Amino acid sequence: MSSTAAWSSLRSPAPRSWPAGQAIIDAAFLADPYPTYAALREAGPIHWSEEFFGGAWLLTRHADVAAVLRDSARFSAQRTGGWVMQSQAARGELKGFQQLFARALPFLDAPDHARIRGVLNAGFRTDVLQRLVPAIEQGVDALLDAVDAEAGFDFMQALARPLPADVMAVLMGIPASDRSDFITWSDDLAAFIGATMPSLEQARRAQTSLLAMSGYFERLVPQRRNALGDDLVSRLLRAEAAGEVRPGAELLAQCAMLLFAGHETTRNLLGNGLQALLADPQQWQRLQREPGLLPGAVRELLRFNSPVQYTGRRVAADLVLHGQQLRRGDLVVALIGCANRDPARYSHADHLDIARSSRGLLSFGAGPHVCIGAGLTLMEAEIAFGRLLRRFPRLYLVDAQPHWSGNAVYRGLSALPVRQAIAAAL
Ligand code: HEM
Repeated sequence: MSSTAAWSSLRSPAPRSWPAGQAIIDAAFLADPYPTYAALREAGPIHWSEEFFGGAWLLTRHADVAAVLRDSARFSAQRTGGWVMQSQAARGELKGFQQLFARALPFLDAPDHARIRGVLNAGFRTDVLQRLVPAIEQGVDALLDAVDAEAGFDFMQALARPLPADVMAVLMGIPASDRSDFITWSDDLAAFIGATMPSLEQARRAQTSLLAMSGYFERLVPQRRNALGDDLVSRLLRAEAAGEVRPGAELLAQCAMLLFAGHETTRNLLGNGLQALLADPQQWQRLQREPGLLPGAVRELLRFNSPVQYTGRRVAADLVLHGQQLRRGDLVVALIGCANRDPARYSHADHLDIARSSRGLLSFGAGPHVCIGAGLTLMEAEIAFGRLLRRFPRLYLVDAQPHWSGNAVYRGLSALPVRQAIAAAL
């Protein structure tokens, strides 16, 4: 049986066509979106769905997702207005949220996007990242030293949640002791971004947390100005002094967005990745025999269960796509998780194969907004998985059913109980 059939058998047979009005989002989709993605892809390259933000075009194919993300002239990244200010009630109340959110790098178009991206790019150069390696290695070791592997532990609590927060703290030059605040704020933002129809309550919580993040940096900035280093906050402050970044909301929005962007994403790469490897013990064992496969394996884990499942764009001017008339201002949802399983791009796309070439991987996006933290993430994941493989070679999943958190964008686990089997006596 092909692995596609195995996935499909988890649900009732996928429809060949996608009748208008048929529901996409339900508990089964949030637990496992891949059968629905397959059905959507087979039914066509583009679908209109009112379940996403009250109405959006969904793109299912690898080629289209890549093309839209690369085409910043026809597809704008500015999309926070209707998202945050969804209702009349929200308009007055959520101004602070919108003011910061709209100025953050992911939601800017040229020329502002290129200006700020240029400032931040320097902080993610390979030589800068290489200097973080010892701190990441020590961080992983300290977190793994604290677990009793043979008694069993929750991988999400022990490593996947704290590690990205600690790494972001180093990168931004802020104390790791504030880690639990960073995680709480990020979780609130992720709940808002990951909701296909965010509620006013989710927007309020996200606003509170985004303002808390921004306030945190507002307090930090005066001290940092007197002691600039090579962390990201210092880079932004130097750029501010040179007139390349505007003071106030623009500067604070970048700080908050950077702090947020590295959390949920990297956490879910670590969690989803370990879950996929342990669910297929042959691949886990193969990685132990052939550690040289690790860099490719991390990319394959990103493809197989993408930590970011979709992103959005607004149509900049009326256009026709696959025979559909898209109007200026329409929202387009690029289904990255669906594109990464497109059989037209990857053979046996529903099968995890740590030795495959994941060329064309869309998990980090593509085009001008391609993830600025990709190199850092790959480095962090290689260190974490490399150490896990060496220290806990007999790790296994405690629960047969994964505990998916149910976030539609940030696909990940709320818990991942694992245990190291006791070595057989010689
Ligand atoms: C597994 C880890 C990660 C994944 C899967 C991921 C995914 C993505 C994706 C898909 C985009 C493009 C969004 C779009 O085009 O709309 C993006 C952009 C971005 N990512 Fe990541 N990311 C990860 C880790 C990180 C980390 C560690 C950082 C920060 C250190 C980071 C910072 C950013 C920023 C600032 C952008 C916006 C870039 C721009 O608009 O130019 N990401 N990421």
